Amino acid sequence: MPLVMPVFGTRPEAIKMAPVIAAVARSPQLQAHVTVTGQHREMLDQVNDLFGVTPDDDLDVLIERQTLVDVTTRTLDRLTPLLRRVRPDAVLVQGDTTTSTAAALAAFYEKVPVVHIEAGLRTDDVYSPFPEEMNRRLTTRLASLHLAPTPWARNNLLAEGVSPDAVCVTGNTVIDALLWAVDRRTPFSDPQLKDLDDDPRPLVLVTSHRRESWGRPMVGVARALHRLAEAERDVVFVLPAHRNPVVREVLLPPLRDLPNVVVTEPLPYGEFAHLMARAHVVLTDSGGVQEEAPSLGVPVLVMRENTERPEAVDAGTVRLVGTDEQTVVSEVTRLLHDADAHAAMAAAVNPYGDGRAAGRCVAAVEEMLGVGHRLPDFEP
Ligand code: UD1
Ligand code: UDP
Repeated sequence: MPLVMPVFGTRPEAIKMAPVIAAVARSPQLQAHVTVTGQHREMLDQVNDLFGVTPDDDLDVLIERQTLVDVTTRTLDRLTPLLRRVRPDAVLVQGDTTTSTAAALAAFYEKVPVVHIEAGLRTDDVYSPFPEEMNRRLTTRLASLHLAPTPWARNNLLAEGVSPDAVCVTGNTVIDALLWAVDRRTPFSDPQLKDLDDDPRPLVLVTSHRRESWGRPMVGVARALHRLAEAERDVVFVLPAHRNPVVREVLLPPLRDLPNVVVTEPLPYGEFAHLMARAHVVLTDSGGVQEEAPSLGVPVLVMRENTERPEAVDAGTVRLVGTDEQTVVSEVTRLLHDADAHAAMAAAVNPYGDGRAAGRCVAAVEEMLGVGHRLPDFEP
């Protein structure tokens, strides 16, 4: 029976890979050898625990304040002997992290076919997001099978000369994960959040971590949050802080001692999904959150200059606001006080998936390995 090796290392990859691992486990045609790089540690293990994923191998690459070179070289060094030992028939990578591109390169060097999940996302600037835009372009060149989440992503691949036979439109597996998580209605375990469901105050949910925002842009975001929290005393701002010390050093000090700002550790995925559904506005630079919140009908303000996920922007649920302090303050203030502006963005839309993406991914892999047939493409 063909053996596939999913390789992943960060929180968003773990969330988006979990439904695929579950679908492989259900397939009578495939077996899996689950490998994590450990690019993230606590944030990765938290997700694997929730989804009941026990890695067969853990490359444990994380070092405090790691560079892109650290993650790349340690992944190549440690994955190569494992590929030689396990000899999988395909390696599955997800998205655009350094784990995914380094794993794809290691597999290519061993002549193991690469399957790219969430293929074809693009901006027109290789430095934004950095390094993710280049990571996904490189992974496209290394991959044999491209699982595009949307028709837009498929068209990007075809425009770059990828053969249509090698592309399948699957929907994004994040929606599979989200629907599963929302259904569980996980209560908040952090005492700071436990009364939120009975709290009448509007909630603004904030996340920020992007590398291209480190330094000045993130200082602007921190100042904007401070001003908003002082001006909007009847609004509660919740910031689950990324583990990265570079991010924490900038974002957290200006938010100390503000009674309506709650800073938490990274939340277990079920609790974060609960919080997104409870939010009045989401303010974020996250890729995954941009995909999830629209399907919950929550307006999203994206603190970036561009996005590789234009579908929800076109649908009106997501708006790009950048990281300028004054713009962030004005845009959040508008959604808090202008009910029409909020209503115009609050319609639930589902351009990214229907909850059945993982089945399409696995069927396409089965076809590539000669043990099955792909399913019809996802149509939003
Ligand atoms: C990485 C990905 C980014 C993705 C993000 C999701 C790259 C280059 N970046 O960025 O695409 O959007 O994950 O969150 O692949 N740390 C811990 N424990 C953890 C996680 C992180 O201590 O569980 C700390 C470490 O000090 C680490 C730092 O955070 O050095 C940065 O982690 P890293 O994976 O290099 O970058 P992210 O900004 O998390
Ligand atoms: N998330 C989570 N707990 C948190 C913050 C985010 O489970 O405290 C989830 C979120 O729902 C989304 C994913 O983590 O699915 C996004 O991760 P992140 O923003 O770190 O990475 P990106 O998507 O930007 O690559």
